[in-house]
Amino acid sequence: MSEIRSVVLGSGGYLPSRVLTNAELSQIVDTNDEWIVQRTGIRERHIAADGELTSDLAVKAATAALADAGLAAGDIDLIVMATATPDFTFPAAAVTVQEKLGMQNGAAFDVQAVCSGFIYALTSADAMIKAGQAKRALVVGAETFSRILDWTDRTTCVLFGDGAGAVVLGAEAAKEGTKDRGVIAARLRSDGRYRDKLYVDGGPSTGQAVGHLRMEGREVYRHAVTMITDVIEDVFAAAGVTAADIDWFVPHQANVRIIDASAKKLGIPLEKVVRTVDRHGNTSAASIPLALSVAVGDGRIRKGDLLLLEAMGGGFTWGAVLVRW
Ligand code: UT7
Repeated sequence: MSEIRSVVLGSGGYLPSRVLTNAELSQIVDTNDEWIVQRTGIRERHIAADGELTSDLAVKAATAALADAGLAAGDIDLIVMATATPDFTFPAAAVTVQEKLGMQNGAAFDVQAVCSGFIYALTSADAMIKAGQAKRALVVGAETFSRILDWTDRTTCVLFGDGAGAVVLGAEAAKEGTKDRGVIAARLRSDGRYRDKLYVDGGPSTGQAVGHLRMEGREVYRHAVTMITDVIEDVFAAAGVTAADIDWFVPHQANVRIIDASAKKLGIPLEKVVRTVDRHGNTSAASIPLALSVAVGDGRIRKGDLLLLEAMGGGFTWGAVLVRW
């Protein structure tokens, strides 16, 4: 029996219409455009409208991805949704997405790995497809981080934005040779000793309130490049590829300095790096699928390209996926 591959059949993204610029933020907290751009590369971010929920953003991204794949919701038998900002404590936002899409078959669940969520969700969906538990999966990253920010804390509120992105994966029999499409290798990591470096100070079992995001930014930064490049070296070794084989590096979009330093350490030229952090800010689990939808939409990413996806975030969690588009 031939090996099963999870092949990307379509992708899509959605950003709320409201754009919040650095100049506007400088009227809310003691900050300025120059500091934000220099330290992070962020110029603006999108903010969900009142009453616009994470599941609403997810449904828009999922609908775009399904259209791109030429599929209907009924063709999907699995939704894996990465979010740290679900509509409710439970049920999973994924089942709301399932209902809003009009999909009644299959299974839907959430994955919580904060900024690494999409990498975790993609890896989980890939594993379920390879295990024969699903044939067509919708993998969504969607967040409304604007709802968990402390808007009086300039060290965090300038960094994040809202948005959603999605891909559709389909089970296909692997072919001979290295040009095979689909998820080629994935590696996930976490280390809970760092959980207080980036966390939300609330939750159902602690203060019974949602809480606000808290981060020791410098500490996260200190670990980011090493963790990212280590797990990428692991995924390269697992797949037998090198940085020279990569057509597009699509990293989590937290900070342009982290992105550029990681690319430099790996030896990936900046022309091959997809960067959207300037316009999206850090959209946590949504950042990679959003970046994918931008680079597919503008024609950079094409069928057959070898993509390196990577993320690092709260937990700490981190991971990397190699996929041939
Ligand atoms: O996606 C999840 C993963 N998260 C990340 O990857 C974030 C990782 N961390 C970072 O990206 C960076 O550490 C930050 C962008 C958060 C901060 O950049 P930094 O170069 O590490 O700055 P810093 O925290 O060392 O702060 C430098 C100075 C401080 O002032 P003092 O103590 O030197 O007087 C801050 O108070 O900048 C000050 N500062 C600000 N100034 C203007 C902090 N935030 C602001 C601000 N505007 N918004």
